[in-house]
Amino acid sequence: MPAAGRGERLGPGAPKALRELGGVPILVHAVRVLARSRAVGTVVVVAPKDGVAEVRALLADAIGERESAALVVVPGGDTRQESVRAGLAALPADVDVVLVHDAARPLVPVDVVDAVARTVADGAEAVVPAVPLADTVKQVTPAQAPGLPEPVIATPDRATLRAVQTPQGFRRDVLDRVHAKAVEEGVDATDDAGLVERFGGRVVVVPGHEEAFKVTRPLDLVLAEAVLARRRS
Ligand code: CTP
Ligand code: MG
Repeated sequence: MPAAGRGERLGPGAPKALRELGGVPILVHAVRVLARSRAVGTVVVVAPKDGVAEVRALLADAIGERESAALVVVPGGDTRQESVRAGLAALPADVDVVLVHDAARPLVPVDVVDAVARTVADGAEAVVPAVPLADTVKQVTPAQAPGLPEPVIATPDRATLRAVQTPQGFRRDVLDRVHAKAVEEGVDATDDAGLVERFGGRVVVVPGHEEAFKVTRPLDLVLAEAVLARRRS
């Protein structure tokens, strides 16, 4: 679970994973969901470099003996990709299937976690949960300066597009290999499945869930609070 980001788009404050949702750090919500899945044996949390001890204490307290999954906390890197690599390096030797889940998606239903894990166990090498897009998407030439109009190049057929979420699931050997190749070739991708595609692997999509959205901007926190309140009522 990459959780080492600063959360710059969320605005000033603690690192995003430690910001609270319903009075509980976002990271704790995310770890609890994974630990609830019977498919998950070990959760490796990749924490901000200067927050490893704090995250360890927080999770020991919040998760404690109640969940069955083992917990490992390691320091992250400067990019998400580096943080995922740090997490991979800390996996126990006997693990064959890896789920990479953003701490920033604290409300993902456990059914999505289970479905991704099952699809890998059934033979897929890389699996991403995704949802159809609500908005039509335009490809543009990015503006040369803020505020200038941007010429449209194309409108991809919305029916063939998906917005991808996490956890993304992988055969461990495949994920290790593409991350090593990414380092060799200096490739940076915003998601792990993107690396598999880039290096010739096969990625499949399974249904995600609208509540698996990523807490990115302040409005996402408002929505997350509302979803949590609805679940609790
Ligand atoms: N992440 C990480 N290490 C980094 C950067 C990101 O582990 N160096 C993690 C984040 O903690 C988050 C996930 O990757 O759980 C998805 O990244 P994103 O939503 O972009 O989070 P941040 O990078 O923290 O946010 P921002 O880009 O707004 O700064
Ligand atoms: Mg980021």
